[in-house]
Amino acid sequence: MTANGCIVHLGGDGPLLVRSPLRVRMPGAEDGIAKPKAALCRCGQSANKPFCDGAHRDVEFRASGLIDTSRAMPESEAPSREGAPSEDEAPPRDGAPSGEGAPSGDEAGSAAPADEAGESVVTAHANGPLHFDGVVEISGEGHEGSARFLQPWLCRCGASKNKPFCDGSHKEIAFEAEGL
Ligand code: FES
Repeated sequence: MTANGCIVHLGGDGPLLVRSPLRVRMPGAEDGIAKPKAALCRCGQSANKPFCDGAHRDVEFRASGLIDTSRAMPESEAPSREGAPSEDEAPPRDGAPSGEGAPSGDEAGSAAPADEAGESVVTAHANGPLHFDGVVEISGEGHEGSARFLQPWLCRCGASKNKPFCDGSHKEIAFEAEGL
């Protein structure tokens, strides 16, 4: 984790733009793939999940860059867990990881040991959201400033009504994605 946490920008009708070093835990890379930055799919249609492959344009994905800050971390108080699904909303964890979904080419980054300084960790959950460790600072196109959240669960199925946070809609639409 960086000193200031993970930095994510919502570019509008596109992916989560992670602008700080991160380690992506996904099938075939449970220890994570280190990347200096990444574009993570949030429309649910990428053929290279959890990474964006541009499919959001084909499906005309629509999402504002606005952020519900009602549960953002207060500057001087203990943070909340914005976007965290309840226990029965948590995605299944019994999916057997496989090599499918592993990034290719220059998206793959390097396979470095976990817990190196300056990294955040994001886990792609099977048929469910992305879970970030630690503090995530989120900014958005059209949104003034940024807000910080602790260990947020961010939507990657495209159906949440509280984007960028998961609201459990992945279950309603029977979202399918490789994950841990
Ligand atoms: S957000 Fe780009 S492919 Fe899903």
